[in-house]
Amino acid sequence: MDYIDLPPLLSAQGTVRLPGSKSISNRVLLLAALAEGDTEVRDLLESDDTALMLDALDALGVDVDALGNNAFCVHGAAGTFPAKDVELFLGNAGTAFRSLTAALALAGGYYTLSGVPRMHERPIGDLVNALRDLGADVAYLDQDGFPPLKIRPATILPEGVVRVRGDVSSQFLTGLLMALPLCGVKITVEVIGELTSKPYIEITLAVMARFGVQVERAGWQRFTIPAGSSYRSPGVIHVEGDASSASYFLALGALGGGPLRIEGVGCDSIQGDVRFADALAQMGARIEMGPNWIEASAPLSGKLRGIELDCNSIPDAAMTLATSALFAEGTTTLRNIASWRVKETDRIAAMSTELRKLGALVDEGADFIRVTPPHGALHTPLSGIDTYDDHRMAMCFSLVSLATTLRINDPCCVNKTFPCYFKQFAQLTQPVPVIAIDGPSASGKGTVAARVALALGWHYLDSGALYRLTALAARRAGAAWHDEARVAAVAAGLDVVFGENSIRLSGDDVSEAIRQEEISSGASQVAALPAVRSALLFRQRLFRQAPGLVADGRDMASVVFPDAQTKIFLTASVDVRAERRYKQLIEKGIAASILPLLLDLRERDERDSQRSVAPLQQSEDAQLLDTTELTVEQAVAQVLLWSNQGS
Ligand code: DC
Repeated sequence: MDYIDLPPLLSAQGTVRLPGSKSISNRVLLLAALAEGDTEVRDLLESDDTALMLDALDALGVDVDALGNNAFCVHGAAGTFPAKDVELFLGNAGTAFRSLTAALALAGGYYTLSGVPRMHERPIGDLVNALRDLGADVAYLDQDGFPPLKIRPATILPEGVVRVRGDVSSQFLTGLLMALPLCGVKITVEVIGELTSKPYIEITLAVMARFGVQVERAGWQRFTIPAGSSYRSPGVIHVEGDASSASYFLALGALGGGPLRIEGVGCDSIQGDVRFADALAQMGARIEMGPNWIEASAPLSGKLRGIELDCNSIPDAAMTLATSALFAEGTTTLRNIASWRVKETDRIAAMSTELRKLGALVDEGADFIRVTPPHGALHTPLSGIDTYDDHRMAMCFSLVSLATTLRINDPCCVNKTFPCYFKQFAQLTQPVPVIAIDGPSASGKGTVAARVALALGWHYLDSGALYRLTALAARRAGAAWHDEARVAAVAAGLDVVFGENSIRLSGDDVSEAIRQEEISSGASQVAALPAVRSALLFRQRLFRQAPGLVADGRDMASVVFPDAQTKIFLTASVDVRAERRYKQLIEKGIAASILPLLLDLRERDERDSQRSVAPLQQSEDAQLLDTTELTVEQAVAQVLLWSNQGS
């Protein structure tokens, strides 16, 4: 899927059960593989990152049985991987890459570890240095300090103390700590520099403890693995819900009214990212928490306020604060986030670029980002929000749909940690309602739709006008109506302003010009071109604004607003339609006669219903409204009735 268009939202509330934590899942899988005995892992996260770890364990000769329902049985290999000569591909899974590097460096085999190009830009030198100090044979296959890596057997002679830098990524310390019990001797790790993302080390220590290894620690500087440590299966282990994933839903509750409850993490969690809830509370959100749940609602004042925060301990969830800041009063400054620069992408740069597309004022530095929302409404980039192959970018920006229709490019990157994110998101949110009215030319759907919009106080989209405008603009630009590429470019660049009583194309009022019969014929021709239809798709979706939209056309229900609450197929016999068109023209003082109008309508019906893209036809879920015998008032009343029943 190239993009997903999120409808604008009215509100958000409900309850969501979180998928398993990525950080805990991959740690548990590795330790279960290294442990003695079988471990039943329940509620494991099923995502790209965990699939890469499972594939790696399989390649390393560890047996894992899928038990169904997110449960797996890992048959522990008791300290040594059976396969001794293996090439591993680990995608962009940082935790898996770093922890397997450490474990395999001490495993006495020949191993190659590689990933996607971005993984090869993410530093690993601090970990490799520490492993080399232990005697490991780890070589860089490309650039010094970065994957891919080649590991060969070596004599590991732990000296008693090994040093590792902690200020670039806490995953280096995590990798070392999890691997060192394989040496079986007492060994101390000393952290050089200020340890970043400390709560992730808490997760590491907690999971190691569940597998029988108690690390002794002095603050965040020294960690000692006692002599004789080895991993033993705890039998059954439950993976907590993902606290970083929780951040999107908590922010959704705080911005969309709420209450929105997440289940799977709470105050008993071992994940530092639950502290994200405190940050949201500081912004004014109402937060309640239990052992295994957190609930967020909007501030009583209705609006969040900007904050200044040291985010070192919640680096992943802090990204959610950056997009929440778009809805806050004042400026939000997130400090101490240098680790963002070495994640799935350079997150400070990516976040700044995309926030600016929405009109925010953004200031960035080596280790901070400062976000001030625009004065007026958020801008809506027609080209969409880019996600940089970073799941968190996609999930953070989904919140923007609380303000506007939003296109998110390459949304499948959420598969890294949360494959059904957008589905769950949709279940918790109420989009701006749409009444979609499709039907053939001159059926009266435009008149009915405009009146329904007026009666409800909703916005109105005459999608046919966009095709007419495209035909007119193409003509003015000298592009032939069958020249798909040129007409699509014209459609993409239409400079249109819909006023109350006028439609302006590049400044000219063209409301009369686009109704000419010749332009009608051109509209029908350009509407048959797939590239033109896709160029106009997002533009049409942008008309969806609170409190609601009535849209008329040919594919409103089937393509443009498939999630419309009310779908109507409005038609009338072709003779009655020709008569109506005739009366309209005569009223406007335009000479006309019925027969050519009838023939023209038949021809257009034929073309609109036979074309290969979005042909005119009644959607299966649309209600049929035949107005042959109805007055406009009767038709409007019927639409309003159905719309009431649908809401
Ligand atoms: O509704 P109308 O007559 O103003 O539409 C003008 C042309 O555009 C008509 O030939 C059908 C086409 N059209 C379309 O293909 N899809 C739409 N959603 C709206 C109109």
